[in-house]
Amino acid sequence: MKINGVQHRSVQVDPENNTDVLIFDQTKLPFSLETLRLTECAQVAHATTSMQVRGAPLIGAVAAYGLALALRVDSENTAMERDAAMLAATRPTAVNLRWAIDRMLAKLRPLTPEDRVAAAYAEAARICDEDVAQNEAIGRHGLDLIEKIEKKKNKSGRINILTHCNAGWIATVDWGTALAPIYMAHDAGYDVHVWVDETRPRNQGAALTAWELGSHGVPHTVIVDNAGGHLMQHGMADLVIVGTDRVTARGDVANKIGTYLKALAARDNDVPFWVALPSTTIDWSVNDGVREIPIEERSGLEVTNVTGQTADGRIETVRITPRESAAANPAFDVTPARLVTGLITERGRCAASAAGLRSLFPEKAGR
Ligand code: MRU
Repeated sequence: MKINGVQHRSVQVDPENNTDVLIFDQTKLPFSLETLRLTECAQVAHATTSMQVRGAPLIGAVAAYGLALALRVDSENTAMERDAAMLAATRPTAVNLRWAIDRMLAKLRPLTPEDRVAAAYAEAARICDEDVAQNEAIGRHGLDLIEKIEKKKNKSGRINILTHCNAGWIATVDWGTALAPIYMAHDAGYDVHVWVDETRPRNQGAALTAWELGSHGVPHTVIVDNAGGHLMQHGMADLVIVGTDRVTARGDVANKIGTYLKALAARDNDVPFWVALPSTTIDWSVNDGVREIPIEERSGLEVTNVTGQTADGRIETVRITPRESAAANPAFDVTPARLVTGLITERGRCAASAAGLRSLFPEKAGR
């Protein structure tokens, strides 16, 4: 994505040494865009758990490079399997992470240790390029949906789209999933406006989505997480588009905590609720998302404390709850397929159902 005329990707290998991995430190946004240099596998793991890097497709792509960095130190079987398992365990919900590591291992296991480093960098680069192409295709299929909604509205005013969390270019290698159609609609001259859920506790909407949309000139308004239902009741949202961390074979959708409540409100108010995803986010091995998808439980400190910028530019973290209050922090929830209007994938749109997914991915049938 271009910022101030400069093209960026969320992850790249340093062109100066063709070795180090460069990401943006997402914990610093929206206040500064800082590049973080990753030179060791352990740094990749730390960046992922601390959410310096985040977003389902991106943590998969960065973990692939993490394995390449690990192999530079030791490319024998035992070390490779150990480091791969360590990277795959950094976050439990987004299936893209496991998918990327499995794909890397499938490529690397048959090779001799000497051949593995170069092959790992090449395979990680392919994963990144494919992610960009998939997200661009999602953008086109989602743009078509936005165009249809605009026609239905009889071109009467702006199209209001609500989104939750951050599923933009910073959460992928480029373009984003939920935001790709929005960028394309904006670039095509449609009058789109985005309601941005702040997305407590880590505020990915307020910090990242708002920053992304603002950098691209897309009109948007940040709202508290509890405002969406009210806006939908008053006809102020034409469409919801969210990303996802894992979609099951029958179309259940895991995404950032609070997504399920948005889907319920959307259903009650006849607002279409769409989920955008690359096929790398589909877990063909599970059906019942509520029971089978592991939900990451993060530190209660993310709930009890908030971080922001003071008037004089300092970044400060303050506590907002009584010291003695306990806090629970499930990071994701599952929206059952019956509440999802449809899925936007790189191969087109489909119903959130086993039949819908099979129609687009027939080669996966029966898995
Ligand atoms: O905990 P996060 O910030 O990694 O959660 C991210 C989300 O829930 C996104 O919506 C999802 O990964 C899709 S990103 C294209």
